[in-house]
Amino acid sequence: MRNPSPPKNSPPALTRRCFASALALAMASGWPLPCTTAQAQTAKDPIIIQFSHVVGADTAKGKAALKFKELAEARTAGRVRVEVYPDSTLYKDREELQALQIGAVQMLATSLSKLATVGGSDFEVFDLPFLFKDHAAFRAAVDGPVGATLLRRLEPSGLQGLAFWDNGFKVFTANRPLLSPADFRGIKIRIQSSRILVSQMKALGADVSIHPMANVYEALRSGQLDGQENVPTNIYSQHLHDVQSHLSVTRHGYLAYVVLVNRQFWNQLPYDIREALRLALHEATQYANSIAEAENQRALELLKASGKLTVHEPTAQMLALWRETLAPVYRQASAWIDPAMLAAIRASSAGAR
Ligand code: LMR
Repeated sequence: MRNPSPPKNSPPALTRRCFASALALAMASGWPLPCTTAQAQTAKDPIIIQFSHVVGADTAKGKAALKFKELAEARTAGRVRVEVYPDSTLYKDREELQALQIGAVQMLATSLSKLATVGGSDFEVFDLPFLFKDHAAFRAAVDGPVGATLLRRLEPSGLQGLAFWDNGFKVFTANRPLLSPADFRGIKIRIQSSRILVSQMKALGADVSIHPMANVYEALRSGQLDGQENVPTNIYSQHLHDVQSHLSVTRHGYLAYVVLVNRQFWNQLPYDIREALRLALHEATQYANSIAEAENQRALELLKASGKLTVHEPTAQMLALWRETLAPVYRQASAWIDPAMLAAIRASSAGAR
């Protein structure tokens, strides 16, 4: 089901009111102005963590968010309640980051590509085409000093990065076969808000359009868009195969997430609660990363079995042509990507097994 209603016992209206009033105050008095649920609690009430995300509950991220809820509530013996809002129920892509900054929600797992709007432009490097050969190469890059450095760079924006969650490799879908780079000419493709993705699609000769995840299905259905790139789990769970006729398994880019909390909310938590949540998140992260690849494999099989679109597996020769066509993206991105960061990512990934 797409965009289900918020759970009945949850306070989305209150949250939106809180967001609206906090936003108005923030605009009048300076940024950011937190409106954390924890601050409104009495000593006896549980601390509420509203965890927003923009994809289905039946995806690696959706399942990991629920795993975090289960572990966090058990480890804090009910002193914390985690409310998970999947599928853009509360906020769409950009709104949810702003909502987190002012404390209208406390926790998110957002894709790395979307962080540039909140001071995380260094994360765009992960959008470079064909940067990682497999999941292990991505993990090797983010699990070491590179990941820690990047997370620290979000702190001045009022955000605390706590973990990286895997998803997987993106593929293209469209309402025409995309067998070679030349097939992109003149068609309109949805991307996330990343300059590298703009550059990638320009290298392919496509027009780009930035849409929040929640709007992609309708934009494809109505013909406003011709195609999009995403991981199989998102394509399947958002029912994009109902409005697309072809899928090319290009695996040209990697989609991953950073789990973020509002920094002020986090720092105000009692020490023992914060440590219990850290532990719960550590376990939820291991869970997320252990299921992501299989979830995408399963979704790809389900997409094939649906019979609604034709799945194309590019030949090695065609993949070489994709790589060659997308190589200029690296040169363009060098205008704003930190070369030392890219070199460190490459060095850590090279050693991955
Ligand atoms: C997208 O907008 O395509 C993805 O970031 C959605 C997600 O969170 O997986």
